[in-house]
Amino acid sequence: MRDRLEALRRDGLAAVSESQDLDTLYGVESRLLGRTGALTAELKGLGKLLPEDRPVVGKLANEIKQALQGALDERRTAIEASELAADLAGEGLDPSLPGASAPKGGVHPVLAIARELEDLFSSMGYVVWDGPEIESEANNFDALNIPADHPAREGHDTIWMDVEKGSTRRCLRTHTSPVQVRALREFGAPLRVIAPGRVFRQEAQDATHDHTFHQMEGLVVDKGVGVPHMLHAMNSLLEGVFGRKLETRLRPGFFPFVEPGFELDARCPFCKEGCKVCKGSTWIELMPGGLVHPNVLTAAGLDPEEYSGFAFGLGLSRIAMLRYGINDIRWMMSGDLRFLEQFQA
Ligand code: FA5
Repeated sequence: MRDRLEALRRDGLAAVSESQDLDTLYGVESRLLGRTGALTAELKGLGKLLPEDRPVVGKLANEIKQALQGALDERRTAIEASELAADLAGEGLDPSLPGASAPKGGVHPVLAIARELEDLFSSMGYVVWDGPEIESEANNFDALNIPADHPAREGHDTIWMDVEKGSTRRCLRTHTSPVQVRALREFGAPLRVIAPGRVFRQEAQDATHDHTFHQMEGLVVDKGVGVPHMLHAMNSLLEGVFGRKLETRLRPGFFPFVEPGFELDARCPFCKEGCKVCKGSTWIELMPGGLVHPNVLTAAGLDPEEYSGFAFGLGLSRIAMLRYGINDIRWMMSGDLRFLEQFQA
């Protein structure tokens, strides 16, 4: 067997160095090392040797395998280099031929709007900040003045994570508002921040409700901040997205972390009399907001007598629907290329 192995090494190395192209080399490789190759057959036969011969012959067989593999790799690199050199030097390369074009990508409509808003708000001195999608109960609810037994906690249809023994509860964040808490902790006051991101709710889907969607939080805390400042920010935002004034209305809204609270609605762009998007009302709920509740400021270590602020929570996915005329929110997270390819750059 030793003689046969040495013969395999000698003949194999010769065949490798005589190969002039990749096809021939590939043939040599499979005759030697392929599933039914000569060396593979020898390796399979090792078991039939006397136990005292096995380690020595086995070692030799492996050495030969490595030598052949090394020679094959070296020869392949050399052939590829010389084929490339020949192509470059000879007629193989025609620079006048059109190149192979890469498929065109595009930016998702929600991301496109988020980026535009980041530019707009950065130009007004806001920081762009983010928080994790898996959030603590404390940040998602407690620090936002939503007590344990408050119906708002249930109203958010929260998706809870499995609780490990002894650990505190965590959930998929139901809104971007916990970033208010995180940003205040990080930067203190005065502060201007926006936080676009993905949020999750265990929610029945329809044309305007998804279980996974995007929001953008806005928060300003300073001395003497009031409702007019909030309205200015909200209107700048809408004008930035749509390039014109939208017909909007402001109505009272309740959120435990603002006082007073508001809802900003925009007129439905899809109909005049009511449709499945506006559910017959001709208005679409876009952006709640309000003045930051004193308890939230206190939880962040600020004195509500000294500081005040406003916050808003834009439905980013819904604003993308309005801007691009998308009449069903479920397209957004569908991953359907027929939808996405319409937004190629
Ligand atoms: C909130 O999530 C509050 N955190 C907003 C807020 C921030 C209030 C700061 C005050 C101050 P709400 O649950 O209403 O509120 O959601 C905010 C926006 O997200 C809605 O106006 C709507 O545009 C959008 N939205 C809510 N649920 C869904 C859903 N299931 N699918 C798509 N968009 C939704």
